[in-house]
Amino acid sequence: MKQNILVTGASSGFGLLIANKLHQSGYNVIGTSRNPEKYASKLSFKMIALDLDSDESINTLPDRLFKEIDKLDVLINNAGFLVTGIAEEIPIELGRKQFETNFWGTIKVTNAVLPSLRKQKFGKIITVGSITGLVAFPNTSYYASSKHALEGYFKALRYELTEFNIRVAMIEPGSFKTNIMENSSTTLNRIEDYDALRSKSEKYADLIVEQGEDPAMVAEKVLKVVETENPKFRNLVGKGLSALITLQHFAYGMLEKAILKQLNKA
Ligand SMILES: NC(=O)c1ccc[n+]([C@@H]2O[C@H](COP(=O)([O-])OP(=O)(O)OC[C@H]3O[C@@H](n4cnc5c(N)ncnc54)[C@H](OP(=O)(O)O)[C@@H]3O)[C@@H](O)[C@H]2O)c1
Repeated sequence: MKQNILVTGASSGFGLLIANKLHQSGYNVIGTSRNPEKYASKLSFKMIALDLDSDESINTLPDRLFKEIDKLDVLINNAGFLVTGIAEEIPIELGRKQFETNFWGTIKVTNAVLPSLRKQKFGKIITVGSITGLVAFPNTSYYASSKHALEGYFKALRYELTEFNIRVAMIEPGSFKTNIMENSSTTLNRIEDYDALRSKSEKYADLIVEQGEDPAMVAEKVLKVVETENPKFRNLVGKGLSALITLQHFAYGMLEKAILKQLNKA
């Protein structure tokens, strides 16, 4: 019998590529979007509605989902967005919104499907975190902290779900060319002291986007994790990420100098 996979945020970027890859590999994929009707006719997999910022939408997700399928094999938590800007200039409400969507939204969706996974005693929960959930970069304070929080949460959950035969894993991509920058939010309370740094940081962000890799790599990695019986927790995707993690653990000073050097060159 075909495995059923739910991919959140399947209208764009990684989610779309992941959903297509899994569908082409023979899985029954259900994707989500805040506007599924906009995409439904163009896609080869089923789309249902989900808004991570709405409790009502998340609470009613199981009804919509289990109308389409009778069991869920894999949840892929992919939906999310990016808040950029100098930390002190970002209004707290926008920082809260970053957590509401990326952290709380993801946790609530996970909780919405967990009763079914626990009951059937199998399943996988794969969450798209980020290298910024492990290493932080300038201009990404709220995004990085929302992704750090996901790392901690799912690390704990992995232990708790072992006895139910539910596997928990993270995908941690570096920088990839998706629509994340176009869909990002940057509302700033400008502080003059930061004028020079702000303009450097914006150029630095452009540089990181320019260096972005092919997002198809992420879909490949997700497929591998789906097809691994007992995947490891951490799954990095992208050039040079292991070196960054090693520097962070054993030579944090060197890592900071390298990031500052890149920022100042921008
Ligand atoms: N691109 C990168 O370099 C990179 C690196 C590391 C991690 N990531 C992570 O990868 C994931 C996907 O990002 P992407 O790069 O593919 O960006 P993207 O092209 O902007 O796609 C974002 C997806 O998330 C959905 N989404 C956004 N906010 C939502 C909300 N409030 N409720 C429900 N769905 C929402 C969007 O769906 P609708 O607008 O249709 O609702 C869309 O399908 C994110 O978690 C991001 O943090 C990206």
